[in-house]
Amino acid sequence: MAEALDLALIDEVLSTARSVRRKLDFERPLPRQVLFDCIDVAVQAPTGIAGESWRFVVVDEAAQKAAIAELYREVLLGLLEQRNMPLKPTHKALIERLHEIPAMVFVCVEGEPLDDQVSSNVAYYGSILPAAWSLMLALRARDIGSTWTTLLSSRQQEVAAVLDMPAGTLQTVMLPVGYTKGAVLRRAERRSAQEVTYWNRWGDR
Ligand SMILES: Cc1cc2nc3c(=O)[nH]c(=O)nc-3n(C[C@H](O)[C@H](O)[C@H](O)COP(=O)(O)O)c2cc1C
Repeated sequence: MAEALDLALIDEVLSTARSVRRKLDFERPLPRQVLFDCIDVAVQAPTGIAGESWRFVVVDEAAQKAAIAELYREVLLGLLEQRNMPLKPTHKALIERLHEIPAMVFVCVEGEPLDDQVSSNVAYYGSILPAAWSLMLALRARDIGSTWTTLLSSRQQEVAAVLDMPAGTLQTVMLPVGYTKGAVLRRAERRSAQEVTYWNRWGDR
C-alpha cells in the first residue's frame, strides 16, 4: 500500500507560504545545496510543450546583489510615486536590506512568448510560474522566507545586463530568500472555496 501523505502538514505548507520581507536572518548563510534541493523540487512542476525551458539564476555575490537591490528600490519607489501611494513598512524594510539578503533567485525562461495571443501567454507563463511557486513552497517547508516579487520584470534589459543573460531569455519572478527569524507564518484571510467556486455554469453555487 502506498505510504499515506501527511495531509495536515502538506496543507499547512501550501497555506502559509506568506511573503517574508522583514523577519529574515540576514546573517545566516544559505547553503547553495539547500537551494539546489529546492530547485530540484521546483522542476517537478508541470512544463509546457517546449519542455524544461526554466533557468534559475541565483545571485549571492555582494556586488550583484547591490546592483539588483538598487534597481529594485528605484522601481518600487518610482511606482509608488507614480501612483501616489505610501511605502508600506514591510516594503521599506525589504528595500533597506535587500542588498544583504543571502540570495536572490530569478526564475527565468529560455525562449520568449510566441506572440501576443492569450493562449501563447497562458502556455508561456503557465510553463514557468508553477515552478516558481513550487520553489517558494519548497523554501517555506525548509523555514526559508521569500517574497513573490515581479517589480523587476519591468526592467528586463537592465537586470539581464547584471545577470549576463543572453538575448531570447526572460526573467519572471525574483524571490529574495533567507532563513526566517522570528516569523510566524499564518494562513491569510481569503474568501472560502464555497464563495469562489461555481458548478457547471458560471455563477451557479
Ligand atoms: C503577481 C504578483 C506580484 C507581486 N510583486 C511583488 C513585488 O514586486 N514586491 C513585493 O514585495 N511583493 C510582491 N508581491 C507579493 C504581494 O505583495 C503579497 O502577496 C502581499 O504582500 C500579500 O502577502 P502574502 O503573500 O503574505 O499573503 C506580488 C504578488 C503577486 C501575486
